[in-house]
Parts: sequence; structure tokens; C-alpha cells
Amino acid sequence: MSLPEPAADRTAVVTGASSGIGEELARELARRGHGVTLVARSADKLADLAAELTATGVRAEVLATDLTDRGARADLLGRITDLGLTPDILVNNAGLSTLGAVAKADPEREMAMVELDVVAVVDLCTRFLPGMVERGRGGVLNVASTAAFQPLPGQAGYGGCKAFVLSYTRSLGGELRGTGVTATTLCPGPVDTGFGETAGFAKEDADAALPSFMWETAEAVAKTGIEALDKGRPVAIPGPANRVAAMFAHFVPKQVLVPILASRHPGLRDD
Ligand SMILES: NC(=O)c1ccc[n+]([C@@H]2O[C@H](COP(=O)([O-])OP(=O)(O)OC[C@H]3O[C@@H](n4cnc5c(N)ncnc54)[C@H](OP(=O)(O)O)[C@@H]3O)[C@@H](O)[C@H]2O)c1
Repeated sequence: MSLPEPAADRTAVVTGASSGIGEELARELARRGHGVTLVARSADKLADLAAELTATGVRAEVLATDLTDRGARADLLGRITDLGLTPDILVNNAGLSTLGAVAKADPEREMAMVELDVVAVVDLCTRFLPGMVERGRGGVLNVASTAAFQPLPGQAGYGGCKAFVLSYTRSLGGELRGTGVTATTLCPGPVDTGFGETAGFAKEDADAALPSFMWETAEAVAKTGIEALDKGRPVAIPGPANRVAAMFAHFVPKQVLVPILASRHPGLRDD
């Protein structure tokens, strides 16, 4: 099953479109002729991307929004329809990770992560899917991570959030069968974006922890994700090394895996 045809009054909503993977997901959708609605907090960066995409002939709207704000999320669909647009595609890409042991974590930062990585995904899916199902067309792409396939000591909350997104989106796919609407989870391995810095990773630690053949560009990840969304595939893992690693982590006994991961994670190092 393929995505709805692009049209002047239809849009693909992309959260976290101000940088990294989200920016490339928006570019890839626009390259395929879809109008886009760009959502994140950084209005200036979204405006620059919108100008670039508009110049290619698609409609690009900017809706600066803090997705940890429940009221702002509740208003989002109405702001889109007020622009005369129908959201046919929803890409829940905005996300962040904390770093370090839960026993040393800031509760506010942990909760902000869960609000963005999990609660916002559930909220937007719940608000946008009824219209898609009623129209009999649409697609949802939720961005998880290869961390969804394994526990992740040092990023425990993040691993849990992404496991939730994978499970939730697989379930959505089952519920949506026969409706004309699809749900896909994109599970990237490491990508060099602002993500690591926001989490608190030193670049050299991230490079040392993850071999170079696992790193994919944001552009390649976005192409894989939109291709999977277009085909209505349930899960996409960009890059062969990440597919092997994710399957290995999923099936290896966790009492073996977890101590190894905990001993190697830079966020748990005593220094
Ligand atoms: N990079 C990786 O290695 C990697 C690996 C696997 C999965 N992922 C996942 O890929 C997705 C995109 O990450 P990325 O690597 O592209 O990271 P990034 O460059 O840091 O982008 C994160 C995006 O989320 C937005 N965002 C953050 N807080 C927000 C908030 N409160 N409200 C609205 N938007 C918010 C940011 O925009 P503003 O700051 O402008 O709001 C930005 O556009 C995330 O879900 C991440 O978990 C990343």
C-alpha cells in the first residue's frame, strides 16, 4: 500500500523538523511532492527550511510548538485545519535522550523526555488518526531507535521510551489493517546530529562506543524511513549493521547482555 497522493490542500506533519533526522524527513517528503507542516520549538530554523522547500514547489508551513506542552499539542490539529490543510501524514520524530544512571538523574529532565518521546507520540496519534481513518487514507511514521530492541543501562528511560514507541506503533498497524491508513516505526542506529550533544555525549565517547560502520547519515535514515512509510512496512532499521545488531540484541539472553552494556556505556563511567 502506498502513501496518499500529494495535493495542494494536504500536508505531511513532521515534528522535530528543525534539525537532524526530522529536517531530512521533511526534505524527503517534499522531494516526493508532499506539502509539509514543520513542527519544533526553533521557529527560525523551521522558517529557513520552509523557505528552502517552498522554493522547490511544495507548500511548507511552520508551526512553532513545544511538544512537551499538553495545551500546545491539543491545539496543533486545529492550527493545521485553520490553514486549510488536511494532515494525511504524521511523522512523530521529535525526541531526546538523557544520559547517566537513573539514581543520579534529574527527575524533571527524565519526565520531559518521557513527555516528548512517549506522551506526545500517543497524544498526536490519538488526535490525528480518527480523521485519517474517516477519510480512508493516511500514514503515521513514528521514530524509535535500535535502542527499542534492548534494555539500555546508562539511557534506561530512553531505551524504555523507544521500546514503547516500537510496541505501540506495531499495535497501531494491527488495528489499522483495512482502513487505508498505515503505521511504521523507523528505528535508526547512531546518526551524527544534535542528538548526542543534547543528551550530553562527548563526540569521542560516542565514536568509541559505536563502530564507524554502524553510523548512518540523517539523509540515508530519512530515505529509508519514507520508503518504508510509502510501502506501509511495519518497521524499518536503516543500515545492514544496525539490522544485525538490533536482531542480536533482541534475541540474546538479557542476563548476558545487560551487564556487558552497563560496563561499556560512557554514561555510567566513573570520572
Ligand atoms: N541521532 C541518533 O543517533 C538517533 C538514533 C536513533 C534514534 N534517534 C531519534 O531520532 C529522532 C530525531 O533525533 P535527531 O537525531 O534528529 O536529534 P536532533 O537533531 O537533536 O533533533 C531533535 C528534534 O526534536 C525537536 N525537539 C526537541 N524538543 C522538542 C520539544 N519540546 N518540542 C518540539 N520539538 C522538540 C528539536 O527541535 P527544537 O529544539 O527546535 O524544538 C529537533 O528538531 C529522535 O526521536 C531520536 O530519539 C536518533
